Amino acid sequence: MAQNDGLNRRSFLRNAGLTALVGAVAPGSSLAAAAGAALVPAADTGKFDFDTPYSRIGTDSTKWDGAINTGFTDKDHIVAGMGIADMDFRCAPAITQALQERMKHDVWGYMVMPKSFTEGIIAWNKKRYGVDTDPALMDISTGVHPGLVAALRAFSPPGSKVLLTTPTYNGFYGDLRNTGTLPEESVMKVVNGRFTFDFDDFEHRIGRDTNTFILCNPQNPTGNCWTPEELTRIGEICLRKRVIVLADEIHCDWTAKGQKYTPFASLPNKAIVNNSLTFKAASKSFGLAAMKCAWYYSTNKDLFMATKANNHADLTTMGMIASKAAYSGGEEWLNQCVDYVNGNHDLVQSYIKANIPLIKTYAKAEGTYLVWLDITQVADKIGAKEKAAAETKAGRTTSPEQIVERWLLKNAGVALNPGHTYGAGGANHMRMNIALSRKTLQAALTSMQNALKSPMLSTAAL
Ligand SMILES: Cc1ncc(COP(=O)(O)O)c(C=O)c1O
Repeated sequence: MAQNDGLNRRSFLRNAGLTALVGAVAPGSSLAAAAGAALVPAADTGKFDFDTPYSRIGTDSTKWDGAINTGFTDKDHIVAGMGIADMDFRCAPAITQALQERMKHDVWGYMVMPKSFTEGIIAWNKKRYGVDTDPALMDISTGVHPGLVAALRAFSPPGSKVLLTTPTYNGFYGDLRNTGTLPEESVMKVVNGRFTFDFDDFEHRIGRDTNTFILCNPQNPTGNCWTPEELTRIGEICLRKRVIVLADEIHCDWTAKGQKYTPFASLPNKAIVNNSLTFKAASKSFGLAAMKCAWYYSTNKDLFMATKANNHADLTTMGMIASKAAYSGGEEWLNQCVDYVNGNHDLVQSYIKANIPLIKTYAKAEGTYLVWLDITQVADKIGAKEKAAAETKAGRTTSPEQIVERWLLKNAGVALNPGHTYGAGGANHMRMNIALSRKTLQAALTSMQNALKSPMLSTAAL
């Protein structure tokens, strides 16, 4: 950690009451005992506890241990892992209970998919979003990525183009590499601080070799919940131009107060819906990212069967049980969690505006637990472009955003995702994941504020 701002991080954490950050579930201690403590909401209030920080250090978590493994921070100095999109909250008690029940058995062989699993998914989609799903046109996949890859293999031959509206979820580029397809990027416009599709540009980018568009709804990383009008307009273009819509709606359960998620499959124009497949999971909603259990569905039998023919789904016992339990017993937990994260979004907006002038926010995210930050001035102040250019010249391809990422890790103990990986329009941005306790979030923001207020910022120490 750089001491250039005189910040003593250990005492800072102590003062912020954050010794609990490393102490709530100390590395190497019994996670089961900690999970047990959260098996019920507080009896007097019915409220689940999202406030107590939960340390994932030492659990091989990408978000925390992955950041430590970079060598730009260490376990004593990291304040917050705020990168990859998973949550630091104890999961819904119903999930832990169901998994514990299954753990009483000692045999872990192949399983058949219980009917109740599919029924749970269908009931959830119907109850929360009014979507009717035909079980015959629904299939499981080992994550949303494998589902998308199966669809790309079905409709987009190697060398052909896949439309993306950028900045967009960086994992899509991996799916494209995996299928030998190429991105065709339509950069979104910002209107009054909100991202919006550039419809004309989107349409002009559709060539003879463009067969699919990956829609992200709600959108990672900008947090947009696309309106029915926006979805209909983009859907009309795709229908007219014979581009199949692959709607990744993994973030569907995350909506900020007053906002609404519109499933692409719920649009009134049935021809538009028939030109799409939807990909979903319980993983973002309930913190089950490494359980590898997802599904996709369509109203169009041809699109569905073509995708299914390319999908090799492996059913994991834990993933199936956890997802099933989430939908059958986790709704109240989720509602409270979404509400809590909405408060985190408010905090980030107000705190950064008031205290971190070098970072700019957009309009409050309408969905997801992600915040998209403009760090142009940070990059300028620390000479990130020059440093990145020098590294690249020396043979280590580096982006200015990676320099900012390292700088924040080293000087603030905060891990964010570098924006250039989110495609065109991602330069000069970082993505911040705020699905964590408010205390930890506050500590991260304060630490960034302190690190960035020094008049002598530079990359010299990197
Ligand atoms: C939009 C989006 N799609 C897909 C994924 C990953 O899905 P899975 O882990 O189920 O393959 C993520 C993870 O962050 C995501 O944000």
